[in-house]
Amino acid sequence: MKLFIASVLYLVAVTSAQNPNKCSLRSADIPRDFLDMSIGCKKEVRRQIQEEINASMQYLAMGAHFSQSTINLPGFAEFFFKAAAEEREHATKLIEYLLMRGQLTDDVSTLIEVKSPPTVSWERGLDALKQALRTEAKVTKSIKQVIASCENDSHDHTNDYHLVDFLTGDFLQEQYSGQRDLAGKISTLEGLVRQQGSFGEFLFDKTILG
Ligand SMILES: *[C@@H]1O[C@H](CO)[C@@H](O)[C@H](O)[C@H]1NC(C)=O
Ligand SMILES: *[C@@H]1O[C@H](CO)[C@@H](O)[C@H](O)[C@H]1NC(C)=O
Ligand SMILES: [Fe+2]
Repeated sequence: MKLFIASVLYLVAVTSAQNPNKCSLRSADIPRDFLDMSIGCKKEVRRQIQEEINASMQYLAMGAHFSQSTINLPGFAEFFFKAAAEEREHATKLIEYLLMRGQLTDDVSTLIEVKSPPTVSWERGLDALKQALRTEAKVTKSIKQVIASCENDSHDHTNDYHLVDFLTGDFLQEQYSGQRDLAGKISTLEGLVRQQGSFGEFLFDKTILG
């Protein structure tokens, strides 16, 4: 009898192990040799993704603020909504980069944490533009920090030439031209406001941003 029970148990174990309908969660056996991004560099890229999402949320708040019927500066609203979309695009580009390098294997939720921006209302359009320029300067500094970490030979003898080239050519180029554009807009708007008060802001919204 004992032998019979043992053989039945054995059969059950064998058939369930071979059951083709059983769900298998084992991941594919892919050689890992091509995963050559260093841990520190990968961590920095993930931080940069969060930085871009933060900037996007900040500009989204600005867009919503200037859209309100009581404020009604549609030029400013559109300018900031567009900026928000661009920042989201930057985050997407970095996520796609990690994917290409085979690094998007875990923890997607922490990549896309969305937090409320620290500031959600602005006295004047000029204040928002100035804050936008400060945000861009912070993002630029942060990109440079990613570059410094990813080209750091001394750490684990990996200089990530390709990522550094991507960040320098694509990202820094856009930062610098965007910052110059904001600085120009601030200068023009400040001149108009000095001469015309809040009518200057209305004019700027209609003619420069509209
Ligand atoms: C993103 O914004 C949140 C909320 O302001 C802040 O706690 C977090 O440190 C920011 N992250 C980065 C990478 O700047
Ligand atoms: C480069 O790596 C070395 C060794 O780990 C470390 O001491 C240094 O702070 C790193 N520099 C940067 C810019 O990350
Ligand atoms: Fe950006």
